[in-house]
Amino acid sequence: MRLLETEAAARLGEALRGFRRAALSAVYGPETTAAADRGDYRALLARCGDDALGVWTRLFVVGVPVPRDAASKAFAPFGIDEALACGLLVGGEEVSAGWGAQFEGDRLLFSDQLPNTTGGRTREHVLGIGGASKLLMDATLRTPVGSALDLGTGCGVQALALAGHASTVTATDLSERAVAFADLNATVNGAALELLRGDLLAPVAGRRFDLVVANPPFVIGTPGPGWTYRDGGREADGIAAELAAASADLLNPGGTMQFLANWLHVAGEDWAERVAGWFPDESVRVWVVEREKLDPLDYVRTWLRDSGEDHDADQAAAWLDWFEAQRVEGVGFGFVSVRRVEGPTEVCCEEARHSVETPWRDRVEDWFAVRARDLEPETLWQAKLRVADGVVLQQTAAIGEEGWDVDRQWLQQADGMRYAEELDPLVVQFMGGCNGEAEVRLQVQLLADTYGAEPAMLYAQLYPVIRGLVERGFLV
Ligand SMILES: C[S@@+](CC[C@H](N)C(=O)[O-])C[C@H]1O[C@@H](n2cnc3c(N)ncnc32)[C@H](O)[C@@H]1O
Repeated sequence: MRLLETEAAARLGEALRGFRRAALSAVYGPETTAAADRGDYRALLARCGDDALGVWTRLFVVGVPVPRDAASKAFAPFGIDEALACGLLVGGEEVSAGWGAQFEGDRLLFSDQLPNTTGGRTREHVLGIGGASKLLMDATLRTPVGSALDLGTGCGVQALALAGHASTVTATDLSERAVAFADLNATVNGAALELLRGDLLAPVAGRRFDLVVANPPFVIGTPGPGWTYRDGGREADGIAAELAAASADLLNPGGTMQFLANWLHVAGEDWAERVAGWFPDESVRVWVVEREKLDPLDYVRTWLRDSGEDHDADQAAAWLDWFEAQRVEGVGFGFVSVRRVEGPTEVCCEEARHSVETPWRDRVEDWFAVRARDLEPETLWQAKLRVADGVVLQQTAAIGEEGWDVDRQWLQQADGMRYAEELDPLVVQFMGGCNGEAEVRLQVQLLADTYGAEPAMLYAQLYPVIRGLVERGFLV
């Protein structure tokens, strides 16, 4: 299935070359476009003229109809009859957008309709660029690579971004319509993608890549027919488990896989153990960050609202019954980053609900960089550590008989992961001496002298704490 032949898609891309976010901002002003981004189209509509940019903007940004003649001029040399035949436009004397069109960087991407245009969703609806797409874009490492893979490409948003820094990009999707949109968008934006249709990993069986990304259909446990963009056809959190299990075999040595996922919190079970158990025993280093956790009712309501089925009490009840039968207490959502390494697998799962400095890719890079270092006890013993920039010590104190009595002390990072970490007084004292000049060995000996302790014993006690502080970026 193709939405347009390559030659026609290239002509459409040529016709719409001037339709980009930068042009909108330059012509209508950044405040007007910022208001439109928030869903307030009043100023934009008032400023749209009858020129081509005004016509495209009314059709695809605001989502209102325009006279057929005006559209015909705006799309030339792409024909109005071609636009009506492929579904880009619908109507008669007045025409409206049949597809959605969105900007991503300096690209224009078509998809099925967006919420601000007319019409409902079909089961094979091809999503435009949504919140989850943007999260993954923000987290994806952008260092140049040889080969990249986008699993569940939809309209091709991730794949086209990968094309900016990967020599070859492969993109897969189960949906024929999604592959057709990705193909069209590649041509419209002058990029080359290898597009394969099929179920999850099947189209790339036996192949390895330097970078793999996926914003998969991760929604859990939907009874009923399902939505291709959302429900991957696996039970429970099976999609994430399958991706995790395949990670080592999908990656070249040193390669990275990044995906978004939902996972279950089951009564009596540790979510971190559940997720860690999905990975192979060898060859991957994994960072799983849970950004939010919804209880089953909020989860079901969120996704029923998303698909416009929030009125469907039977479906909500069936979904909630399923969660209850599985003893599900909540559903976690977060980022999974996997690097192929030599040796046994290491998985770190953590909850980070607070606001973190973006882009997320910097956090991912930092995380892997520090874990690639030698942080063994003998190495840290000789290291000259210093407190990282932007780290402060905060204290609370209660008034006692002899004045203020400090009862809690914790470190707070101003940037990066913005971690806060509670410390005991010994570690506070140790960190106070971390000025980048004295070796850890010397500091531990001084502390041991102060407390009349044996240095080796004290170091054995402090080492895991010091290592944790280095891994979490408090000490460098
Ligand atoms: C949430 S959308 C993500 C689209 C796009 N990559 C993005 O970031 O916006 C998930 C995509 O996975 C596709 N999909 C659903 N089930 C699949 C399966 N079993 N195997 C491969 N792709 C699947 C859907 O058609 C949809 O395009």
